[in-house]
Amino acid sequence: MRYGYFDDEHREYVVTRPDTPLPWINFLGCEDYFGIISNTAGGYSFFKDARLRRLTRYRYNNAPLDVGGRYIYLRDDDAPSPSYWSPTWQPTRTPLDEYECRHGMGYTTIQSVVRGIKAHIRYFIPLGESLEIWELTLTNQRPQETNLSIFASVEFCLWDAMDDATNFQRNYSVGEVEVQEGVIYHKTEYRERRNHFAYFTCSEQLIGFDTDREAFLGAYHGFDAPVAVERGTLSNSIAHGWQPVGAQHIRTHLQAGEVKSIIFLLGYHENPVGHKFDPSGTQTIDKRTLLPLIRRYRQLVEVQAAFEKHQVYWSGLLDKLQVHTPDVHTNRMVNIWNVCQLMATFNFSRSASYFESGIGRGMGFRDSNQDLLGFVHLLPEQARSRILDLAATQLPTGGAYHQYQPLTKRGNNEIGSGFNDDPLWLVFAVAAYIKETGDWDILDELVPYDNAPGSEESLYGHLQRSLRYTLERLGPHNLPLIGRADWNDCLNLNCFSDTPGQSFQTTTIKDGKVAESVFIAALFILVARDMVQIALKREGDRAAQNYLHAIEQMENAIWQAGWDGAWFRRAYDDLGQPVGSQECREGQIYIEPQGMCVMAGLGLADGNARRALDAVAERLATPHGILLHQPGYTHYYLNLGEISSYPPGYKENGSVFCHTNPWIMIAEAMLGNGSAAYDYYLRINPSKREEISEVHRCEPYVYAQMIAGREASTFGEAKNSWLTGTAAWNYLAITQWILGVRPEFAGLNLDPCIPQDWDGYSMQRTYRGNRLNITVHNPHHVSRGVAKVEVDGRQIEGNMLVLERSGGTYSVDVWLGR
Ligand code: BGC
Ligand code: NOJ
Repeated sequence: MRYGYFDDEHREYVVTRPDTPLPWINFLGCEDYFGIISNTAGGYSFFKDARLRRLTRYRYNNAPLDVGGRYIYLRDDDAPSPSYWSPTWQPTRTPLDEYECRHGMGYTTIQSVVRGIKAHIRYFIPLGESLEIWELTLTNQRPQETNLSIFASVEFCLWDAMDDATNFQRNYSVGEVEVQEGVIYHKTEYRERRNHFAYFTCSEQLIGFDTDREAFLGAYHGFDAPVAVERGTLSNSIAHGWQPVGAQHIRTHLQAGEVKSIIFLLGYHENPVGHKFDPSGTQTIDKRTLLPLIRRYRQLVEVQAAFEKHQVYWSGLLDKLQVHTPDVHTNRMVNIWNVCQLMATFNFSRSASYFESGIGRGMGFRDSNQDLLGFVHLLPEQARSRILDLAATQLPTGGAYHQYQPLTKRGNNEIGSGFNDDPLWLVFAVAAYIKETGDWDILDELVPYDNAPGSEESLYGHLQRSLRYTLERLGPHNLPLIGRADWNDCLNLNCFSDTPGQSFQTTTIKDGKVAESVFIAALFILVARDMVQIALKREGDRAAQNYLHAIEQMENAIWQAGWDGAWFRRAYDDLGQPVGSQECREGQIYIEPQGMCVMAGLGLADGNARRALDAVAERLATPHGILLHQPGYTHYYLNLGEISSYPPGYKENGSVFCHTNPWIMIAEAMLGNGSAAYDYYLRINPSKREEISEVHRCEPYVYAQMIAGREASTFGEAKNSWLTGTAAWNYLAITQWILGVRPEFAGLNLDPCIPQDWDGYSMQRTYRGNRLNITVHNPHHVSRGVAKVEVDGRQIEGNMLVLERSGGTYSVDVWLGR
């Protein structure tokens, strides 16, 4: 069952009924000001940091779902008794005669018709601005003239969303607003410490306003039935403490057939310290630098021009890489939605994390580094500065803060460090960046440790420390010590928590000198292979040899202690027992080491890689994707931690944790098995799963963190969409390994591994300043193996495309087969 359809031409998903199983979300913004918006206008806005600088409140998991948002109410002023509705369905949930929501690239439109009044609202954030626009267009389709009241409302958040939701002894007394010339200013704590405020206004003359929530809603009314809207007038209330809101009232008279546009603006503004108040000495906000901006965006022509610019920006992004394959789901995800999700993960990491609350976590070190893998070709300059920000949160030990807050860019002390895989992902991201851009100079950038002035070292030095961090922390089997956890946050082998409420991520009872991770061993090899090439270029042969030697030793350790006979083991616990082994009662095989070890090149020559992947196919693969491990844990194991605290089939305890699936796709592609790789790709492809939306339940246009596994009672149900490393890894798996156009240090490796029944495909891609039109021909219907490559009709040697940064356009033909 579907709740809408893809409109690929307009790069939109069209939701055709408002009552989707969960709020179906879109992200707005791509610079400093952001918002999330559901298909019924729910969601929140923030400046840079979803937790620390939140503009509006949102209650994702409310009953009913999805409460708080960018709400407009229309009221029939001619009706004999109060008659009002929400053109976005929520919050009043009045039945609509027509409804359609279009989620596009960075914008959302919601359109509806009720008794002949058509309303169309376009929500977007103009490039370069810290404000959002709600452009409302009303059409009177009635045969007669109509008097309408229009109300628009937001509920302000008192900046720190965590504090806002918890610290009521403070919150109830601090809220402050100003209203002047039709603009509502939310200025809580705009005193010595804060220089920022929010504002809410529109293009029309206001009939009235409210800023006190109780005055607007009534103490025991919700947003579904505000007393002021029912009554038809606002009371010009000024909030003092309690819950400040912004509510505006406009009246309009529409002739039959008349169309009218109204623009609402919600924004964020900062004043320089010396210009906070006007007149100075008062507590009145200085509005002088803001008013010209408001005046500008109250004009429809300006709004439309800003939207055009916004469209051009997104087209430019998507044009960086476009494919035409025989499969619509692949085309749609690669060309449109996967990129949209990559932008969101780049911008928010997990900081709007998960978007449902926005207060959970900051920018994850491991997360953001992986998010970059799919992002480096889109906006290389931004990728570069993100890499430097991340490296600056690395610690002198080579370890790293697990998270940092985007607003401050400082490591998050609550969580700290000690996730022993973290530093290796930095090498991965830097390598991906250089492979894409050829910008070796980034390695010379001086970057501090823990943001401490005076501690600067070259980025190359940071990478060296990352690898050393692993080598200095080996356990009894010469495998890397796991620390608090590795990629799998819930495999907490040093935690031994037996106290309810203790955080699995930060509680470490054991000294950490025994529990080891095969996953980190493989990740080490994978990134050390890149480091060999980086060191060769930077320092020459000797440095490279050192890394080769370390790789060899790590490989030995894996073969000695990490191979279980038919697949790779996952880890060793603090008691020295294997995890992910046939010896185990539950959790006998895990997906992560099968993917990582094969990607690191283990077992390619001797058949063990094939054995491991066969075991995955046999024991872990399901129609809804590949499970994290099997059997799921039915008991809580003190020595394993959080993983065994989840019911079997959910989250890290044996769900389809989507992030890991592309590792198996890549591994299958490395073994030349294009059909298997592609089959796995389609199993979790959201567009492919659209037809079972009633089972999948999350948005059909973006990946979710997990799909409930076989042992769950809701097998196939997705949760926690959008902010997941799945986006970057799937993009990599499909574009670089299955379609096989893969940036390497030397150039672009053309090595497709596609389903045999494909006749070929084409890709348009920008690479190091050049434009490539690549056509892959598959006349003999093979999966893999390049017979010849021609560039502009001339055959090149091998299948590595080495190009100068010339700004040229090249036509590249790749023939698969013999
Ligand atoms: C979740 C993980 C998450 C971790 C850190 C756990 O409860 O299951 O997926 O990464 O918390 O927030
Ligand atoms: C979500 C976290 O953001 C990510 O860092 C982690 O790898 C996965 N959970 C698996 O635990």
